[in-house]
Amino acid sequence: MALVELAGVGKSYNRGAANEVVALRRIDLQVAAGEMLCIQGPSGSGKSTLLAIIACILPPSCGRAVLAGHKIARLPEHFRTRYRRQYVGFVFQNFALIDHLSLLENITLPLLPLGLPPRRREELAEPLLHRFALDHRRSFPAGRLSGGELQRAAIARALINDPPLLVADEPTAHLDSRLTGTVLDLLAGLKREGKTLILSSHDPLVSGHPAIDRVVTVRDGMIVNIAAGGG
Ligand SMILES: Nc1ncnc2c1ncn2[C@@H]1O[C@H](COP(=O)(O)OP(=O)(O)OP(=O)(O)O)[C@@H](O)[C@H]1O
Ligand SMILES: [Mg+2]
Repeated sequence: MALVELAGVGKSYNRGAANEVVALRRIDLQVAAGEMLCIQGPSGSGKSTLLAIIACILPPSCGRAVLAGHKIARLPEHFRTRYRRQYVGFVFQNFALIDHLSLLENITLPLLPLGLPPRRREELAEPLLHRFALDHRRSFPAGRLSGGELQRAAIARALINDPPLLVADEPTAHLDSRLTGTVLDLLAGLKREGKTLILSSHDPLVSGHPAIDRVVTVRDGMIVNIAAGGG
C-alpha cells in the first residue's frame, strides 16, 4: 500500500496576487511504505515545497494528497498538524534547531505537546543520542555544535516520535563527502528497520547511494523523470 499518494498536486504561493509563484504543477507520485526516495532538481524547482506538502506542513493549492490513508489536501491546519505529529519526522534544510537550548532539549522538543515528564523525555532520547553518536554533546547548546553534529541532531529530533515516515530536506547540504557518507549510512539503517524515507538533494552522492530505491527529478515544478536507484 502506498504511504504517500499525490495526484494532480499543484502549489502556488501568493495565489491571485501580482507576485504569484507557481511552485508545483500536476504532481503525480506514489511512495510505498519502506521505500527510500531521492528528489533532485535545480534550485527553485520545487523540492522543498513538494516535501512540505508530503509532510503536512503546507496544504496543496489543488489536487489530491493522501498520507497513510488520510486525505490531507483540504484539511484545516489543526488536523494537518495532528497527522504530521503522528506520521512524519521532518529534517529542515537549515536544521531549525534552537541555538540556546541544549542538544537534549532540542531533540526532545517535539515531545513537549504530549506532556511527558522530563525523565520520560530523556529516556526516549537516550537511544537516539547513542545511535547518532551525540551522547557526549547532550548538554551543549545547539549553537556550539559542529555541522555534522547539527545534522545528526536534526535527524534525531525528527525521529523522537518514532514516525513511520522521515522527510529530510537536503540532509547533506552542509556536509563534506565523508560526513555525507556517514549520514546516508545512518538513513539507510533506518530504511532497513522499515521506515519510509523521502530526501531531497542536489548531490549525486545522495541520489547514487545504494539504499535509494527511486530518484525523482523535478524541474520547474514538474516531475520530469523517475529512475530506479540502487536500492
Ligand atoms: N514562501 C514562499 N513565498 C513565495 N514563493 C516561494 C515561497 N517558498 C518558495 N517559493 C518559490 O517557489 C519556488 C520553489 O521553491 P522551493 O523552495 O520549493 O525550491 P527548491 O527546489 O527547494 O530550491 P532549493 O534547491 O534552492 O532549496 C521558487 O521559485 C521559490 O522562490
Ligand atoms: Mg529547497
